Amino acid sequence: MTFLQAKEKGEKLTMLTAYDYSTAKLMDEAGVNSILVGDSLGNVMLGYEDTISVTMEDMIHHGAAVARGAKEALVIIDMPFMSYQTSVYDAVVNAGRLMKEGRCGAVKLEGGQEVCPQIKAIVDAGIPVCAHIGLTPQSIHAFGGFKVQGKSEEAARKLLEDAEAVQNAGAFAVVVEAIPKKLADLITEKLRIPVIGIGAGNGCDGQVLVYQDLLGMFSDFTPKFVKRYANVGEVMKGAFREYIKEVGSGAFPSEEHEYKIDDDVIEKLY
Ligand code: KIV
Repeated sequence: MTFLQAKEKGEKLTMLTAYDYSTAKLMDEAGVNSILVGDSLGNVMLGYEDTISVTMEDMIHHGAAVARGAKEALVIIDMPFMSYQTSVYDAVVNAGRLMKEGRCGAVKLEGGQEVCPQIKAIVDAGIPVCAHIGLTPQSIHAFGGFKVQGKSEEAARKLLEDAEAVQNAGAFAVVVEAIPKKLADLITEKLRIPVIGIGAGNGCDGQVLVYQDLLGMFSDFTPKFVKRYANVGEVMKGAFREYIKEVGSGAFPSEEHEYKIDDDVIEKLY
């Protein structure tokens, strides 16, 4: 089932971020529709304060690992900051690298009307594009922080126009981040293409979350829109503590974890 068919049938789409092979494999086996190799890897994997420093090499390295783990889900790789804003030419070359070297099925880029020439050119080159509007983290310094977008009439109208513009430029889906639910509902109603929400209420055609947020593995910053489905961070810490304790006491490794050798072989070495 394609993204468009899901919207037409009214079936909700699921998307999660992943940055490595084993996590992508687990998500794929669980049946998620799409795996986003988000540039949020800058925050949750590399420990940066924002996504600005993430490079093409980072995205290709992590993207290719995810692509090896995902057999069914659509893998989308984020275009990092300044890999497409600089020119249409840069956008096509870098989207091509993400598909060729990162082995993704589609790329995602941030912005509305201002990046439509890039979206059109990438799509014309045969690479599907997912757009991303609302709170776009690569523009965090222009926004003055992580703030809900589209609350005034002017800002809401601009977002609606941006959504229609990216659709007309050829995007197959659009992520809307941190915008009021009623505005997300209106955008979802007006667009032909699926609207994937994050912090945009439950009226969107689908949802996306950063997996460390969903699993309780990242505590530096938790947005209001995150729901924690498990406390894996605590489970991990508990296991690490247990390991440290058992190595210290000699309880690990025990006999079941040992390799054997014949006694007469070892005796000859003394
Ligand atoms: O980078 C990312 O993880 C994203 C999602 C939050 C949509 O863009």
